[in-house]
Amino acid sequence: MAETHSQGNPTLFSPYKMGRFNLSHRVVLAPMTRCRALNGIPRPALAEYYTQRSTPGGLLITEGTMISDTAAGFPHVPGIYNEEQVEAWKKIVDAVHAKGSIIFCQLWHVGRASHSVYQPGGAAPISSTSKPISKRWRILMPDGSYGIYPQPRALQISEIQEVVEDYCKAAVNAIRAGFDGIEIHGAHGYLIDQFLKDGINDRTDEYGGSLANRCKFLMQIVQAVAGAIGADRVGVRMSPAIDHLDATGSNPLNLGLAVVERLNKFQQQIGSKLAYLHVTQPRYHAYGQTESGTHGSEDEEAYLMRTLKRAYQGTFMCSGGFTRELGLQAVADGDADLVSYGRLFISNPDLVLRLKVNAPLNRYIRKTFYTQDPVVGYTDYPFLSEAKETTFLDDAQVKKLKGVLGGTDLNGPQGPAGYSCKKVSAVTILDFALFANDLPSDIIEQTTFLDDATVKKLKGVLGGTG
Ligand SMILES: Cc1cc2nc3c(=O)[nH]c(=O)nc-3n(C[C@H](O)[C@H](O)[C@H](O)COP(=O)(O)O)c2cc1C
Repeated sequence: MAETHSQGNPTLFSPYKMGRFNLSHRVVLAPMTRCRALNGIPRPALAEYYTQRSTPGGLLITEGTMISDTAAGFPHVPGIYNEEQVEAWKKIVDAVHAKGSIIFCQLWHVGRASHSVYQPGGAAPISSTSKPISKRWRILMPDGSYGIYPQPRALQISEIQEVVEDYCKAAVNAIRAGFDGIEIHGAHGYLIDQFLKDGINDRTDEYGGSLANRCKFLMQIVQAVAGAIGADRVGVRMSPAIDHLDATGSNPLNLGLAVVERLNKFQQQIGSKLAYLHVTQPRYHAYGQTESGTHGSEDEEAYLMRTLKRAYQGTFMCSGGFTRELGLQAVADGDADLVSYGRLFISNPDLVLRLKVNAPLNRYIRKTFYTQDPVVGYTDYPFLSEAKETTFLDDAQVKKLKGVLGGTDLNGPQGPAGYSCKKVSAVTILDFALFANDLPSDIIEQTTFLDDATVKKLKGVLGGTG
């Protein structure tokens, strides 16, 4: 699709006024956990990573950042609840601001998606429920292995207020560190979603049962945080239709609308808008394979997103499987004001430029998503200006590769966007081989690669090629 699809109408690259912030385009860095903050303290590599992805007037959202010492469920995620963390973040935020970008800190509590190894005193993780996450999911442990999620402890009512206060303190700390705003992570099966979804929340008190009760925890956080730092510095992320970590819901659309309705009402009451509502959609899930089975078709997802966009009275950002085409389309059709990109931004530090000029994209390497190396798989993806010369495959090699990959269609919709086989370098093919095994339902923690034998075969086929 041409960039100027609808003449006079905004495109992905048009400026956008998000409350007090003047954005120069609508391509946003999605929040992504990268496990490079050793022992919870952001280190200089994060400054390099975020500045690489900065553009003047662009919006970056940080990785999920712990609001308290009970909030972690991944190794080496940063925190924003103590002075050392705040001081360390200041340097990163300053570096991003020097590049002209706007940066929001994503505030995160994983709730039951944790393990005693991540909890103070080896305690049980906290949640809305005492039901553990099923064995279908695995937790990434500090040594890189995968473990079983343990049984959580359901929060008592008096403790819920303390967690709300933790969000508030973390938001104030984020502003002290220089962040332009914060995003409340209410998505993907973590603590807030554990309250929102009726597939998890089995409480019989004022925080469980009805939609109103299930939305209460999120809304208390929104109100407290907006009161502390200003509503226009607060974004909210939710994923009503994503069942990650067993976060199933009996009616995703009703849940999404219930949250939207409450956010609208809150904005009217205070006479000010939130910065944005950020909704992630399960385009990266296999359609029809959600556990509840009541949603999941492409049409239903599109309908849900459109309905929420039209109902929400403020800036609407979407995320989940967006390509250049889909991003252009979403903005042109009025289905999104802003589009956040995750995995493509990992492997393309200059994604905004690449999308703008429709340049080829580097493939991401999943096995380094959550490793701790401050450079490899983190800040070493090449910029367009550094694109290396590639060796192209001949037809015979492509044919053999297709044989090894079985039914995988290298040129199909799952293939490397915009590439034709003949123009794909050997490295890209190998990388794509990994991508092809990037199982859709394993979006975050779980990683499945080609088995060693297949990789060996692929390497054999490629021989000495680039
Ligand atoms: C490595 C990785 C880490 C992620 N970490 C977070 C996170 O910390 N917080 C969050 O809300 N979403 C997280 N996500 C989800 C992304 O923000 C995004 O919604 C998802 O990747 C879909 O967008 P994409 O198809 O453009 O990658 C993560 C995704 C990836 C790939």
